Amino acid sequence: MNTFGNKFRVSIFGESHGQRIGVVLDGVKPGLPLCEEDFRADLARRKAGAPGTTPRIEADEPEIVSGVFEGHTTGAPLTILFKNENTRSQDYAAFREHPRPGHADRTAAIKFQGFNDPRGGGHFSGRITLGIVAAGVVAKKMAAYSYEAEILEIGGNIRREEWPVLIEQTRAEGDSLGAVVECRVSGLPAGLGEPFWDSVESRLAHAVFAIPGVRGIEFGDGFAASRKKGSEHNDAFGPDGVPVTNYAGGVNGGITNGNPLVFRVAFKPTASIAKAGIPGRHDVCFALRTPVIVEAMAAIVLADYK
Ligand SMILES: Cc1cc2nc3c(=O)[nH]c(=O)nc-3n(C[C@H](O)[C@H](O)[C@H](O)COP(=O)(O)O)c2cc1C
Repeated sequence: MNTFGNKFRVSIFGESHGQRIGVVLDGVKPGLPLCEEDFRADLARRKAGAPGTTPRIEADEPEIVSGVFEGHTTGAPLTILFKNENTRSQDYAAFREHPRPGHADRTAAIKFQGFNDPRGGGHFSGRITLGIVAAGVVAKKMAAYSYEAEILEIGGNIRREEWPVLIEQTRAEGDSLGAVVECRVSGLPAGLGEPFWDSVESRLAHAVFAIPGVRGIEFGDGFAASRKKGSEHNDAFGPDGVPVTNYAGGVNGGITNGNPLVFRVAFKPTASIAKAGIPGRHDVCFALRTPVIVEAMAAIVLADYK
């Protein structure tokens, strides 16, 4: 369904070319100072406009319509709306008849018996992550740790200085690129999380895989741990009990150990490519816009443990 969380619930709604998209948050802590201005910095990090991102630029002005009174959260459901203004739906008319390979056009039509809104990918569009970033802003106030996500590699290339040329060449070829994003959350207490189903890794993987276009997630050493010896992967305890290394990525037994939470997310290359004759305005590398979305997902999960 479209809601995630137990104590902090995030419901997303809207379609890429519908009138409005947004988010409803339940379980928000009362008394948090909150105004539209608080959303600007994170929303700007998701915005298109940089080379390699879509030419569809939206104002992304948040409108808080419930849950805030006299500058503070009330504890009642908090609703944030955004308008869709820069839409060109004619580009997408053919997607019903000719679903895009690699996108959700075909599976959406099967699941919703052809009644789904296909314009711009409808409810499956990356545009819907705008509400997730807004939810992340509120979640970061509730789970007030330090969140830092950044791109580590693009198209398998770790040399940042080469990224602009790589992106431009790929755009000129009508093709697309994937990327790896690393997220680090510091200042976390030890003891958050649950064993088994609601382990920190399970909840984070659940939330992160909800971001369209995610192909993988790994914690700490991740897949590389399988190629190490125990003596190389174990994190020895320091004098205060907190491990001195962080090969586990900050979690043991599903529970935070006092180290920073470190995980990496693999994003696929954009499905809609000019090379395949796909019309519309698309990101060459949509992952460029995702670090703030990954941070938001981490904050949403951690706010739910509070
Ligand atoms: C911020 C963001 C922007 C995106 N932009 C595009 C895009 O311009 N074109 C496209 O084909 N996919 C784009 N995607 C990815 C698709 O939404 C995604 O591939 C599609 O919904 C199918 O889901 P799946 O890849 O997880 O199977 C974007 C994703 C995000 C998070």
